[in-house]
Amino acid sequence: MQETLGTRLFGGRLYFYPEIASTNDEAIALAMAGAPEGTAVLADAQTAGRGRWHRSWISPPGVNIYTSIVLRPECESSRASQIPIMAGVAAAEVLDSVCPGRVKLKWPNDVMIGPKKVCGILSQAKITSKKINFAVVGIGINVNAVLHHFPKTIRESATSLFLESGGEISRHDLLISLYENLEKWYKQLLQKGFGPIRKKWIESAPMMGQPIRITFKGEKTEGMAKRLDDDGCLVLAVEGNEEIKVSAGDAIIMRWKENAFGD
Ligand code: BTN
Repeated sequence: MQETLGTRLFGGRLYFYPEIASTNDEAIALAMAGAPEGTAVLADAQTAGRGRWHRSWISPPGVNIYTSIVLRPECESSRASQIPIMAGVAAAEVLDSVCPGRVKLKWPNDVMIGPKKVCGILSQAKITSKKINFAVVGIGINVNAVLHHFPKTIRESATSLFLESGGEISRHDLLISLYENLEKWYKQLLQKGFGPIRKKWIESAPMMGQPIRITFKGEKTEGMAKRLDDDGCLVLAVEGNEEIKVSAGDAIIMRWKENAFGD
């Protein structure tokens, strides 16, 4: 694998596990022990794959990609939430080469095909004196999973590249493209700031300019998705020309009722 990586940084040091609890946990442990930037953890299966808000991430063996990468950006902690957005942009671009024109982003960093999630990102950072000490960006991609790999409860909301494209995809090739593209966008973030990433994110996020609802811990906020701020917050325009900044939650586009007259 390392020989085929065209990247100089990401995956240059790669720790592979046939099975592990969570690649994020392992990458955090490595980072705490001083692992350099670009160190990657890859697993064929996870027994305790984690999503945002302590949700579990279904991680069966033999079909998907579960990887976490250590980053050591020298920047203020306020920029930590730019990292998962950068990773979402990079992953979506790679997946778009498999399902052209169909891969979209949903705030904050879900990668979607139609209404279903194909890739999730969990970024965790250690902050010391208002600086990012390290960040671990964990990426799960449903590559060749078929329906029986997903519990019934998520079959309506999750998909895989195989299910969407109808063909088996090489996890090896996809992973190499992922590391290369992540490295490209990460360097953009360091060299040019958040601007180019925000631009690309907005282009790929159909919810921008739409009426949306964000649910966080049971609380719902509704408004027009107006802007993505530098801190990764979504700015909603609400009644009375007011703006609300939302930092966390699950977002959906609110659709007009199909048939408002009930015919
Ligand atoms: C989400 O959408 O809620 C984020 C899902 C992130 C899953 C990936 S799989 C690799 C890494 N290890 C984990 O335990 N989680 C992330």
